[in-house]
Formats: sequence, structure tokens, C-alpha cells
Amino acid sequence: MNTKTFRVRILRQDGPSEKPYWQHYRVEYEPDMNCISVLQKIARLGTTEEGRPVAPVAYEANCLEEVCGSCTMLINGRVRQACTALVDHLLADQPELIELRPMTKFPVLRDLVVDRSRVFVSLEKVKGWVPVDSYLDLGPGPRQSQEAQQLAYQYSKCMCCGCCMEACPQFLKIELDRRPGETDEQFRARQREAYMRSFLGAHAIGQVELFNMNPIGKMNASERLDALTSEGGIQVCGNAQNCVKVCPKEIPLTTAIAREGRAATWHTLRKWFDR
Ligand code: SF4
Ligand code: SF4
Ligand code: FES
Repeated sequence: MNTKTFRVRILRQDGPSEKPYWQHYRVEYEPDMNCISVLQKIARLGTTEEGRPVAPVAYEANCLEEVCGSCTMLINGRVRQACTALVDHLLADQPELIELRPMTKFPVLRDLVVDRSRVFVSLEKVKGWVPVDSYLDLGPGPRQSQEAQQLAYQYSKCMCCGCCMEACPQFLKIELDRRPGETDEQFRARQREAYMRSFLGAHAIGQVELFNMNPIGKMNASERLDALTSEGGIQVCGNAQNCVKVCPKEIPLTTAIAREGRAATWHTLRKWFDR
């Protein structure tokens, strides 16, 4: 009996400053596989399509249920999570071949693993949290209406996957070269500084919307709006709306961008009149 197989091509890279290259594999078909099981099969196989022994492809995955965002990559040219990309669906759209490559807007660490620290630097910039000044039991927070809770829930689903940034024409890749003699710590500090000044991305605007609508979080609304109107802030958004189309959590990012754009304008005017 002939075993059904399909081809997988993966854009590999041996390290951050190495050149990327394509490698092809032939994988045995099984029903109900996702792209993580494809990568596991390739690791077990240990050889390319031509039978050449190779090191397993590096990739990240954790929850396997589209919650952690770590397995985000380009699958047949579309940014999405490998754990929920089903082989049956992919082969139905494009028979015989599945293509995997790392996201293009983040520095590649190895193969399909990218450095997404910029996603978190943006959250740090906009203070994407509700500050607490004690670990004591502070009792229940202020009551919120069902409508407010449901709206907040939509934004709270963000898993920092990077899809909205990958699809955004205004979110440009920043790749810094190491300076001679620079330590890891010095390099990371320089990288963080560059991230702080660059476009923060739609996810961060969504989180400003979330925390500025929170009854306690809104106490820091002004600081978040300061961040949103600083260099690399909401003014960089060109309203292409790609972000909302690719968000796997269907977060209403363009609603957040419109609402926070208005809030940012009022904030700037208020500051100007208060001078
Ligand atoms: S609407 Fe703004 S954040 Fe979203 S893709 Fe367009 S430019 Fe990027
Ligand atoms: S807003 Fe959506 S696409 Fe962007 S990081 Fe969050 S979950 Fe991912
Ligand atoms: S492994 Fe967590 S989203 Fe895919």
C-alpha cells in the first residue's frame, strides 16, 4: 500500500546573523495533524527530502491551543499559530506543499524562533497593567456593568502573538548589529531603547483601550496617553486596517485605534491649553 506523503519547505537560519536558506522535507500524512505535529515528525525523521541528516528545526510552542502565541509563524504566506493550522485544511487549499517561515518583522534567533521582546517593550511603554501598591487583600474592585466587562474581555484576550505587527505596514523591522566588544546586556539595552522609540503596534493601542476603561486602570490614563502620543505612538498608524484582519483573537483593534486616536487628540489639546 502506498503511504500518502506531502512536502514541507521551511526557511531555516542557524543563528541571528546567519543567512537564511530553504530546506525541504517529505512527511507522512496522518489525519488531523497540525503544523506542530509536522515539525515533530520532521524532528523524528532527522533527514531532508534527499535523505541528508539535519538538525531538528527550532520552533516555539507551549499551550497548543492558541492561547500563548509563541508558535506564531508564516504558514503558506499567512501569519498565524502553528498549533491551530490544520494540515488537512492547508493541503485542501494548496495540495502537496506546506511552507513554514519565521515572522519577518522580528529578529530571527534560530529557524522559526523569533525575538518578540519588542511586543512586550511596547506594553511596558504604555503601562499595560493596573498598578497595585500592596500584596495585601484589597477587597473586591469597583463593580462594572455587564457591557463594560464584555468589552474589556475582548481586549483582554490579546496573547501578544505578533500577528497584528507582522501584517502592519507601519511596523518596520528593527535589526541592530552588534558593536565590537559589546556585552549582551549593552546590546539588549540599545535594542530596548530603539524599540521604545519605534511604532508600538496595534496590540499596545488595544491594551491602552483596555486599561484606560478599567475603573482603577483609568487613574493612569494620562500617563498611557502620554506614551501613546510620544515618538512611535498612535500618530504613526496609517489606518491600513491589516491588523484587525489577522488578529486570531478577533480583537476590535481598529475600534481601539479610532477611540484612542480621539482620546490622544483631546489629551494633547488639554495639555496645550493647561500650559
Ligand atoms: S490600522 Fe494602524 S496598526 Fe493596524 S495595520 Fe494599519 S497602520 Fe498598522
Ligand atoms: S492584538 Fe491580536 S494579533 Fe495583535 S498581538 Fe494581540 S492577539 Fe496577536
Ligand atoms: S502553542 Fe500556544 S498559541 Fe500555539
